[in-house]
Amino acid sequence: MKKLLTLVLALALVLGLAANASALTVAFSQIGQESDWRTANTDNVCAAIEAEGWTLVYDDGQQKQENQIKALRNFITQGVDYILFTGVVSTGWEEVLAEVNEAEIPLLLLDRIPDCADQIDYVAAFGGDFVEEGRRMARWTGEYLKSIGRGEEEVNVVMLEGTTGADAQIGRSEGILEALPEYPNLKLVAQQSGNFTRAEGQAVMESFLKSIDKIDVLLAQNDDMALGAIDAIKAAGLVPGKDIIIVGCDSVKTAFDAIVAGEMNATIECTPLYADFVIPTIKALEEGQTFDKTVIHPEEGVYDCVGGINCGTVVSTLAADVIDQRVY
Ligand code: AHR
Repeated sequence: MKKLLTLVLALALVLGLAANASALTVAFSQIGQESDWRTANTDNVCAAIEAEGWTLVYDDGQQKQENQIKALRNFITQGVDYILFTGVVSTGWEEVLAEVNEAEIPLLLLDRIPDCADQIDYVAAFGGDFVEEGRRMARWTGEYLKSIGRGEEEVNVVMLEGTTGADAQIGRSEGILEALPEYPNLKLVAQQSGNFTRAEGQAVMESFLKSIDKIDVLLAQNDDMALGAIDAIKAAGLVPGKDIIIVGCDSVKTAFDAIVAGEMNATIECTPLYADFVIPTIKALEEGQTFDKTVIHPEEGVYDCVGGINCGTVVSTLAADVIDQRVY
């Protein structure tokens, strides 16, 4: 009889956990939809939450910090079970994230890490190593120039930066500025924000082309800005990828297409696919596992016209695989 009772209690516990898990409400405060990367990130995370049968509370901050702060407070009022958060800028989140902590809602940081991360509690952070991405952009360029016999030639570099004050902009600028001096022939002649969008990338590149006599290299802190800049370069009668070497960041499919077409030279990997980290983490938390500010940077590398993807009409087997498997 005692055995039966234990069995019934264990079953009730398992069923109870399962019922609770299926009743989870997961809220996601997203920045906006400024780029292909961002759209892929939203789709990937939201679809995975819904596929679990959990209730998704999604908020698009439309690139405004005040909208995101309001959304986070709404999540608290609604009593959601988990909050996923990525901030449009790096500063100014202390107060509202402390409120999330006070409400004891487990917080998962995605993509961009706020500068107050040391002062708040969070379960885990899954995002890009932006400084390393910036270094890779500069180093790929320096090595590529050497490989085509231009390692000694003084070349003018312009930089399209992301949203000013965003973790991704700060980190990538830092990495680029740190690694550029390793190649003394690379001279940074202009830098300006293109806000991570194609339209602003195009507009800023237009103004660079008007005000700077000779531009040899464009470092665009995301692929959308690089693609916008390609339109500006063509409109100016220049050949993108040849007259101006173009290096982007994110490795979205549209950038692969531009590389294959010979209009872009390289893109640095920064995956938007965090669902495979978020979902198991929430499940583990539901099972009572604890985490202590785990930080994971799931990046891979560089895709370019020299190694991974060949320029022009010839596409290597590796490139075909990479392109086929790319879902964003
Ligand atoms: O924070 C990641 C960056 O934000 C991506 O590089 C960019 O495309 C996005 O908008």
